[in-house]
Amino acid sequence: MPKRGERNRKEAEPLYRQIQEELRTKIVTGEWPPGTRVPPQRQLAELYGVNRSTIVYALGELAADGWLRAEVGRGTTVAADVWKAAADSPPPDWGRYVRDGLHAPNLELIRQINDAEPDPALLRLGTGELAPELLPSAAMQRLLAERPEGLPLAYPEPRGSLRLREAVSARLEARGIRASPSSVLIVSGALQGLQLIALGLLRQGATLLAEQTSYLGSVQVFRTSGVRLVGVPMDGQGMRDDEARRLAARHRASMLYVQPSFHNPTGIVMPERRREGLLQACVRAGLPIIEDDVYGDLWLDEPPPAALKARDRQGLVLYLDSVSKSLGPGLRIGWIAGPEPVIERLADVKMQSDYGSSSLSQHAVAEWLLSGEQERHLAFLRAELKARRDLALAALREHAADLADWSVPQGGFYIWLALRRPLPMPKLFDAALRAGLLVHPGEIYARGDRQHLRLSFAYAPPALLREGIRELAGLIRSFD
Ligand SMILES: Cc1ncc(COP(=O)(O)O)c(C=O)c1O
Repeated sequence: MPKRGERNRKEAEPLYRQIQEELRTKIVTGEWPPGTRVPPQRQLAELYGVNRSTIVYALGELAADGWLRAEVGRGTTVAADVWKAAADSPPPDWGRYVRDGLHAPNLELIRQINDAEPDPALLRLGTGELAPELLPSAAMQRLLAERPEGLPLAYPEPRGSLRLREAVSARLEARGIRASPSSVLIVSGALQGLQLIALGLLRQGATLLAEQTSYLGSVQVFRTSGVRLVGVPMDGQGMRDDEARRLAARHRASMLYVQPSFHNPTGIVMPERRREGLLQACVRAGLPIIEDDVYGDLWLDEPPPAALKARDRQGLVLYLDSVSKSLGPGLRIGWIAGPEPVIERLADVKMQSDYGSSSLSQHAVAEWLLSGEQERHLAFLRAELKARRDLALAALREHAADLADWSVPQGGFYIWLALRRPLPMPKLFDAALRAGLLVHPGEIYARGDRQHLRLSFAYAPPALLREGIRELAGLIRSFD
């Protein structure tokens, strides 16, 4: 599709006027109500395929005519009294509705990252997804084309397609986890699994224990439903079981969330004894566990110890996994394995929220898992990720040895960089963005953190990854 600017280039009106008119139309038709933040100039220039100066000119005139308002620190917004300029009656105060909505907004920093990610000019050094060339898109297409039956278009069953649940059950069995298809719920990604647990199993004001530095810090699923998160201290082996026991009693915790294998963002693998210790602590405290294992298949050196769920003889563990980190995050398919009454409850909540995950995606994942393709693909992925990890580590040793410490991740996507001294992270984030680098500061995963960056070796092309690390080290050094 041509960019808008290109499409209109031949028309008589100067480009800046066409852009002005398009933006003004958004305002007068209510698409952009008063207070709406106008996208950054860089983004508009990219969208219209014009120079930034053309955008500056167009926005300047709209501001002079009273449509827009430029504020230091807030960027450009649609003027509050814009309806006067349109000689119309005032529109509803959407800004108030947006602020009042029940769901907590994302952290500002995450919204900035989400907005920046589609920009192809940026090198994504922290992104939590596989590079598109590592996803088996052509193989999936071939596999589905070979299937004689048509594609499923009807609503799926409440717990998800039986064929997929059978495939998941067999996969779990191969990992030492007994979960029959009736105790598996298909969800739209592990994130939805967490949401269903928050809404379906925890009361407002309940306390959830989680690693002090955690993926949960980057999402608001529990906060939105009024659940209090309490961080459990970690060491080089992951969550400390003695601290989990102490904090569970002190806060009368309702549940514990943990990622024992290739933890996001630290990359830590919980060793055998710690797993046993944590499970025993929870058994004694009668504390249910959410085990998030979305990176579990992505071991690079050797498989991790057996999952907590594989040791669970009481139905204490709700086991969460998805295909997002290996097969395709856009499929939005994951699963929860747990006691049947819990699965039934979560399936009921899910039915009330979306009538089930996409039948097409469930079909694609079921066929993929049953064909044996996933094991072949995982072998390919492990080799690729291992090479990329080693390249990133070599670049760090070369350029950042005096700036930061890190440990070698045994799997997953991430290197958790511990800077030698705290830095003004918003400034580093902005400076990196100006240099074309998108990084994930540690505060996304641990409030107030000023000393860590999450690097990912799964997304950036290898040659650019090495170069990006060199540039990032230069930026960190410039804060000395
Ligand atoms: C630890 C962890 N859990 C869950 C998720 C959510 O994954 P999904 O795409 O399956 O919803 C992520 C994604 O980054 C993750 O890192």
